[in-house]
Amino acid sequence: MEVVILADADEVGRVVAAAVEALIARRPHAVLGLATGSSPIPVYDELVRRHRCGAVSFARATAFCLDEYVGLPTGHPESYRTVIERVFTGRVDLPAESVHAPDGGAADLVGAAHSYDEAIATAGGVDLQLLGIGSDGHIGFNEPGSSLASRTRLKTLTARTREDNARFFGSVDEVPRHVLTQGVGTILEARHLVLVALGSGKADAVAAAVEGPVTAMCPASALQLHPHATVVVDETAATRLRLAPYYRETYASKPEWQGL
Ligand code: GLP
Repeated sequence: MEVVILADADEVGRVVAAAVEALIARRPHAVLGLATGSSPIPVYDELVRRHRCGAVSFARATAFCLDEYVGLPTGHPESYRTVIERVFTGRVDLPAESVHAPDGGAADLVGAAHSYDEAIATAGGVDLQLLGIGSDGHIGFNEPGSSLASRTRLKTLTARTREDNARFFGSVDEVPRHVLTQGVGTILEARHLVLVALGSGKADAVAAAVEGPVTAMCPASALQLHPHATVVVDETAATRLRLAPYYRETYASKPEWQGL
């Protein structure tokens, strides 16, 4: 695992966007795994900026969202399909029909979850998966206790995650209890995982994920099992990392050609 500690959210946005741009340059039909939440926003803003100045086109790319709430009406402003279109895909030339999200409105949620994993496999798998991290160490909506081998499935949100996400809904009572999320096992199949964490509220979760034991109690710790996982954090999210001096030294002396 590579840990990259950067000054602030803007620099995190630039470094991760450069990795996405390099991937698309190599592989214009790349499959991107997209995360919602506030952490990847600087990355999306930077990609939109680069797209507008002609540096990158997503016209041939495909995207799969990590997760979706169950039971929100189509077009609900906080449905992750709507959110990802608002914050990223609708601002670049990624065709709407190439953007996929689990169907949280399906009558058959088990079937919808299964079809989602199949669709990812049919697309050839995810090349680069962006991830945020919940304050309890969740990735996607894989709450603590999630099997590290799990597939896309129905999950129940913890009270803490519903409280964390209440800011988007007005009140905690409006945050759905259930979600469909890619499983930890599904996420681990992506060829490159890039986890972004910003702010002091994520410092404990980042330390547990990177330097703690691999455990279902911190689903993000599963990144330790992946051959190409990159954790990109700002200074405030890095404060609990014991090996921070080593991560800084490694990144500072990294050959330019290596990228992320
Ligand atoms: C939600 C999303 C996660 C995201 C997490 C953290 O729970 N399902 O994918 O990582 O929020 O969000 P934020 O980046 O806003 O802190």
